[in-house]
Amino acid sequence: MTQATQKVPVLGLKEQYQPIADELEASVLAVLRSGNYILGEHVKDLESEVAKLSNAQEAVGVANGTDALILALWALDIGPGDEVITSPFTFAATVEAIAIRGAKPVFVDIDPETFNINTKQIEAVITKKTKAILPVHLYGHPADMDPIMELAKTYKLFVIEDNAQAIAATYKGKTTGSFGDVGCISFYPTKNLGAAGDAGMVTANNKDVADRLRKLRAHGMWVRYYHDELGVNSRLDEIQAVILRTKLKYLSKWNDRRRQIAKLYETLLNNCPGITLPKTSADVTHVFHQYTIRVHNDKNSQTKGRDVLQTKLAEMGIGSMIYYPVPLHLQKAFSQYGYAQGDFPVTELVSDEVLSLPMYPELTDAQVKLVAESIKTILNAPATTPVVSQPVAGTV
Ligand SMILES: Cc1ncc(COP(=O)(O)O)c(C=O)c1O
Repeated sequence: MTQATQKVPVLGLKEQYQPIADELEASVLAVLRSGNYILGEHVKDLESEVAKLSNAQEAVGVANGTDALILALWALDIGPGDEVITSPFTFAATVEAIAIRGAKPVFVDIDPETFNINTKQIEAVITKKTKAILPVHLYGHPADMDPIMELAKTYKLFVIEDNAQAIAATYKGKTTGSFGDVGCISFYPTKNLGAAGDAGMVTANNKDVADRLRKLRAHGMWVRYYHDELGVNSRLDEIQAVILRTKLKYLSKWNDRRRQIAKLYETLLNNCPGITLPKTSADVTHVFHQYTIRVHNDKNSQTKGRDVLQTKLAEMGIGSMIYYPVPLHLQKAFSQYGYAQGDFPVTELVSDEVLSLPMYPELTDAQVKLVAESIKTILNAPATTPVVSQPVAGTV
């Protein structure tokens, strides 16, 4: 079954585009006609808007979220000989960026409820070489920032937030990306705020760091053709910026709808045996980039319960994804750091169990219900009393 013929595809990019097509197309056409294509007014305006949204002093547009991380580490002079503490349960880009800078990623296991770095285990791995802590706000749930900021203060470490999946989330009333020295955003098309291609941004709470980032993204230049230092080309273009500015107006409504869908999944799947539903910590606003359940494994079976559920859902026309099946400490690409199976038991267990269900604002209540009832049928759980579909205020 292709994505087009599925009853509930795992992603809904066309569904997001259609209701705002006229607005998006007009804005793109205006840029095309303007002849101004790179690092122009739309990039500047988007930087101001994202800085404001993130409660950060500055924001610097770059080519993608991976570059945001690499350039953030670079702007803080993190490189060979340095160690950066992070989670092994994230997208590879987080760790790639540390490795590409020549620094060493030092992993800490995760909390089984939030899937984020277990802050109680950070202090034990801090050494003289530690330069930064790099928490990831995975699936849109903010990492536990208070203890991280406390440790950073005590040991004089930088904090780099991987905010790729959590734009506009909050922790104790403060927006993600505004805690650390820098926050790194991805605007990959499937993100809560997605471009029509690659784009990224670094938020910063220090003008010097932001200015250094502006130089690094443009070949080390401040004045055209005068290269103060080595840099790269990681410019953001005007078409992506105008698309993001157009969509930014809807982000808050879209995130509300994501939370509404999460609540509906929770109501429908509450007592379903064999799975654990995601939890939201007190004092955070989750933006549900993903709605990720854990599927328990039967110790007597060779096959993972998660894989069986995913296959059967696919047969019923329902998409799902595994973010992420192999923890980063066990990936070949990072084998030089000497980690082994058993080093991070929670991460390893969770990687075998996670399954992300369809989660995007355009899902209808009926689709969410179909996903939940299909899971219950597969897992032999009793059906729920029908949920009355509510019209969704504010969804486009
Ligand atoms: C946690 C995390 N970090 C970094 C990235 C890298 O972003 P990009 O794909 O825009 O390079 C992503 C996105 O894919 C991500 O999910």
